[in-house]
Amino acid sequence: MFELDGRTALVTGAGQGVGTGIAVALARQGAVVAVNDIVAERAAETVASITEAGGTAYALPFDVTDRTAVASEVRAFERRVAPFDILVNNAGNGGAEGFRPTKFRDTEPADWQRFADVNLFGVMNTTRAVLDGMCARRHGRIITIASGAGITGASFGISLYGAAKGGAIAFTRHLAMENARDGITANTLALGLMDPAASGRTASVTTEMAKGIPVGRLGRPEDIGATCVFLASREAEWITGQTWQLNGGAPTS
Ligand SMILES: NC(=O)c1ccc[n+]([C@@H]2O[C@H](COP(=O)([O-])OP(=O)(O)OC[C@H]3O[C@@H](n4cnc5c(N)ncnc54)[C@H](O)[C@@H]3O)[C@@H](O)[C@H]2O)c1
Repeated sequence: MFELDGRTALVTGAGQGVGTGIAVALARQGAVVAVNDIVAERAAETVASITEAGGTAYALPFDVTDRTAVASEVRAFERRVAPFDILVNNAGNGGAEGFRPTKFRDTEPADWQRFADVNLFGVMNTTRAVLDGMCARRHGRIITIASGAGITGASFGISLYGAAKGGAIAFTRHLAMENARDGITANTLALGLMDPAASGRTASVTTEMAKGIPVGRLGRPEDIGATCVFLASREAEWITGQTWQLNGGAPTS
């Protein structure tokens, strides 16, 4: 079950953290994986670890917010290697270096754009680039990595991020309905707190917050990778338009 032999996947932001876990898991199940990241060296590192383990992967660095680059890189890859069957929209800037939670009343309009750019428009750019081909082949799996912040309110200053992730959740739900008869499934994973060590970051505010997670630990990239394998598989063809909260049982409303 859950074999991905013969499938080709694009995972965005897969140079570290959650994205690496997803790329590794898909490759382990037999998918050929295009490892995207805006930082080319990171993409290359993920490719190296997949190929060392016997999988097949290619680095495909580009900025998901650059629509022209996304379209041309996807087109070139599909001509050179294979068309994409699976898209995992993972690139996001919630845990990015330099992100400081800021209450909305302390933000300026100039701050708003960068959250929508990567967490919402980035998702649209990559989806647009692969969708026509998936519909023509009557098979596609689109998985978008969102956040509990897109569902549940928080008091500590993540409204801009939450708004963009909430937009991605709603977008993916409509995408699922529009393309269900063309063999496409589209689902969202709303993540809870992930272990910052997976992204090369040291203890942060999340370590303290983790004490309240019912299962008693932060999320790991392999937790998300396993769910992506399932949603990408043939066995999951009846699951679409859903938002699953992967958060160790943390409060969800
Ligand atoms: N870390 C958490 O606690 C947490 C919680 C909920 C949701 N999420 C979401 O999970 C996803 C992965 O999070 P993470 O913690 O692994 O993040 P991370 O910051 O560790 O890694 C993200 C990767 O995406 C790349 N990236 C950033 N902007 C890009 C762009 N414009 N184009 C291409 N690549 C880009 C970065 O270079 C980086 O390698 C994100 O969408 C994030 O918002 C994370």
